[in-house]
Amino acid sequence: MSFKISVLTLFPEVFRETLSASLIGKAIKNQHLDIEIIQIRDSATDRHRSVDDTPYGGGEGMLMRADVLYNAWKSMVPEKSGAVKTIMLSPQGTLLTQEIAKSWMIPVPQFEHLVLVCGHYEGVDERFIELCVDQEISVGDYVCTGGEFPALILIDVLSRLIPGVVKNPDSVSNDSFEGGLLKYPQYTKPQTFKGLSVPEVLLSGDHAKIATFRAEESRKRTKKKRPDL
Ligand SMILES: C[S@@+](CC[C@H](N)C(=O)[O-])C[C@H]1O[C@@H](n2cnc3c(N)ncnc32)[C@H](O)[C@@H]1O
Repeated sequence: MSFKISVLTLFPEVFRETLSASLIGKAIKNQHLDIEIIQIRDSATDRHRSVDDTPYGGGEGMLMRADVLYNAWKSMVPEKSGAVKTIMLSPQGTLLTQEIAKSWMIPVPQFEHLVLVCGHYEGVDERFIELCVDQEISVGDYVCTGGEFPALILIDVLSRLIPGVVKNPDSVSNDSFEGGLLKYPQYTKPQTFKGLSVPEVLLSGDHAKIATFRAEESRKRTKKKRPDL
């Protein structure tokens, strides 16, 4: 059965090319993943197809209207249930980490259908969040123009955790952040490049020595680059 993600957005074109490439494109082709992109504007009810308006109380920018968003969401989620999770991409949300992604997806996805809502402009009427959103997720402490790129990041991170999408499970379980460590340095051909050689131990064929070297390098670089981990 494929894992379903619906994305509510005002800019569907952002997703089309990106999602057809590489591992995600393959996951969709192999039916591990089913992605549906919904144009929020199609749920507007006035003749101008308005999706936003000025904030009550004044202030800068335009807000996405709760009624239009609600109609778009309701067409995806007729009934709230544990099998469906609605996530609003927001700089105010829980910071996305590998730990969080894994807790949703491993050993098997904790829900069947993920609905991602991309805000835009100055943001979203709070009542939509109150009524429909299960969790707000942020991709970092900075502000993007819209939720589209954050949604793509989330889709990318979750896709490679769907069982069967990454062929060799070790390549997921040995990734950075596993066990609180960054991955060790890696090398491929040529053996020497611009005077820099591959560490001797990696050419030795001694698997125990290679494992010790990699574990040590992993610890060293985590301490240097991300002591907070
Ligand atoms: C310009 S932002 C609005 C920011 C809002 N005025 C605030 O100060 O919290 C427009 C939309 O981009 C998305 N967005 C911006 N930064 C994000 C982040 N770091 N993580 C996830 N989504 C983000 C959200 O969907 C947000 O509604």
